Amino acid sequence: VTTDTAVAEVEPIERVAVLGFGAMGSGIAQVCAAAGCEVSVLETDQKRLDIGFERIDLFLDRSIQLGKLSLARSKEIRDAIHGATSPGDLAGSELIIEAVFEDLNVKNAVFDVVAPVVGEDVVIATNTSALSVTGIAALVPNSARVAGFHFFNPVQLMNLVEIIPAETSAPETVATLGRFAEQIGKSAVITKDRPGFLVNRILLPYINQALQAYDDGIATGEDIDRAVELGLGYPMGPLRLADMIGLDVHYHATDAAYRQLQQYPFAPPPVLARLVEAGRYGRKTGRGIYDYAEEPLS
Ligand SMILES: NC(=O)c1ccc[n+]([C@@H]2O[C@H](COP(=O)([O-])OP(=O)(O)OC[C@H]3O[C@@H](n4cnc5c(N)ncnc54)[C@H](O)[C@@H]3O)[C@@H](O)[C@H]2O)c1
Repeated sequence: VTTDTAVAEVEPIERVAVLGFGAMGSGIAQVCAAAGCEVSVLETDQKRLDIGFERIDLFLDRSIQLGKLSLARSKEIRDAIHGATSPGDLAGSELIIEAVFEDLNVKNAVFDVVAPVVGEDVVIATNTSALSVTGIAALVPNSARVAGFHFFNPVQLMNLVEIIPAETSAPETVATLGRFAEQIGKSAVITKDRPGFLVNRILLPYINQALQAYDDGIATGEDIDRAVELGLGYPMGPLRLADMIGLDVHYHATDAAYRQLQQYPFAPPPVLARLVEAGRYGRKTGRGIYDYAEEPLS
């Protein structure tokens, strides 16, 4: 066999662009940098970039304190992440990961400025949770290079990534994301482009059932969580989890899925709407199902 007929080995991706440096974008940037990529992160302004870097510094510092990371390694990761406020700085990127606000108009606006500076073949991965990946793919020239790449929060700790081919995705786009997931140490599952993809399809009705059981007085909130933890072996009960996700975030996610799927398990339980109306969003507001007044927020 000559080298002419040997299958060319695919080189790992070295330069990644992340669009948006919020909760997800900062985690994604850190994970890509830790895997050896040079990462450029696009934000709307320097202040937002600073907030993203602060979030990463906090995470890296905690990892050092816990003895999980050396100072030198932490510096390497930090130095591989470059802030950008001009789309021109993303030229030469081999992969784009979009993590801006969950709003089709915002995603459209960022693609309008980024697409012209990267090649038409550069794969664009969207981290959307609830929008149609096919709808997002339609926003860019050559939709065949777009697919969903759905990380979980906190990205540094959660090992799953869902790969969601759009109706228009080329098989090579999906293959590229599969290889990249492996490169950054994540385990990938391919799911259909349907509301909730896979994990949220299961999670949303599960939390709704727990909220309804709580509202019906089947057991106390503490007992519902304790029962699920001890009876099913889950690390955290559904009500504490909902408080951590944010009851407002859960409300919008399950309401959107219900509107699209028209299946009752996704319908927001009345108690959820009442808690959200009362501003009881969970840990972030100090009160949700539980009262966190005594606990420091983290
Ligand atoms: N938070 C989660 O748990 C979670 C989990 C999985 C997926 N997602 C998805 O990830 C995406 C981002 O979510 P998030 O929670 O990180 O949001 P976020 O609000 O924390 O961050 C979004 C960031 O995008 C930036 N942005 C907005 N417009 C921009 C533009 N034109 N150019 C560059 N940056 C811009 C904002 O300044 C902000 O910093 C959404 O699509 C969301 O649905 C979120």
